[in-house]
Amino acid sequence: MAELDDPVRDLRERIAAASRVCVLTGAGMSAESGIATFRDALTGLWSRFDPARLASEEGFRADPQLVWDWYAERREGVRQAQPNAGHRALGDFARRRPGVLTVVSQNVDDLHQRAGNADTVRLHGDILADRWLEPCRRGRACDPAAAGIDRPPRCAECGNLVRPGVVWFGEMLPPGAIEAAERAARAAEVMLVVGTSGAVWPAAGLAATARRGGARVAIVNPHASEIDGEAHVVLRGTAAQLLPRLFG
Ligand code: OAD
Repeated sequence: MAELDDPVRDLRERIAAASRVCVLTGAGMSAESGIATFRDALTGLWSRFDPARLASEEGFRADPQLVWDWYAERREGVRQAQPNAGHRALGDFARRRPGVLTVVSQNVDDLHQRAGNADTVRLHGDILADRWLEPCRRGRACDPAAAGIDRPPRCAECGNLVRPGVVWFGEMLPPGAIEAAERAARAAEVMLVVGTSGAVWPAAGLAATARRGGARVAIVNPHASEIDGEAHVVLRGTAAQLLPRLFG
């Protein structure tokens, strides 16, 4: 990786000098923790599974048990996974320099939070959270935790189904999330984009937002992404290799 030394050193110095840094992460951030990405050829989830069946409200309504079981397996994988050296580098940096770093993540796992970035902006929800499929028809809040052990659990009183707390295709982002992400991108002096294909909007637009706001934009990804053209510098390496060198 000798050829990476200069851009890495330059970026490391910019990060050390910055008062506002934003890091946008995607599935590649957690790949070295053993969590599959979506679009990598062969290993990505969407190369083996159909997102229309498994990651949309229509798919869930068509076969709730299939979708529930698929998420149950992924939840188990997330619970067993551990933050990697990249997550830990960001968590350590936030502890050392409070108030400087905003992590914005498309990931539905909780590895940034467990590594010390408790206030990570989560654009695509939380796979470990439960949500009702519909607003309660009885006009009051039932408790998803009391919904039993069916797959998926179902409200004994109104029949409403529990679904995972992730954002599916065609759905709105959690209230306030994109606004918080755009604020962080606009304020950033350095914007680092780690492990995302840049195929999903509005997250993919945050690099350009940061660049318009004057940030130095850098990408960490072993492969080409759809937003490489937005970056001043592209570092071809992995999250666990490069983040400790950039934030250590
Ligand atoms: P993708 O699967 O589309 O892209 C993963 C990216 O990570 C690719 O560009 C890989 O080259 C890169 N990558 C793989 N291993 C890496 C490593 N060790 N270090 C750094 N990068 C690595 O995942 P996302 O861009 O996150 O939506 O996908 C965006 C959204 O599409 C996801 O949030 C998900 C999916 O449908 C929801 O869950 C709502």
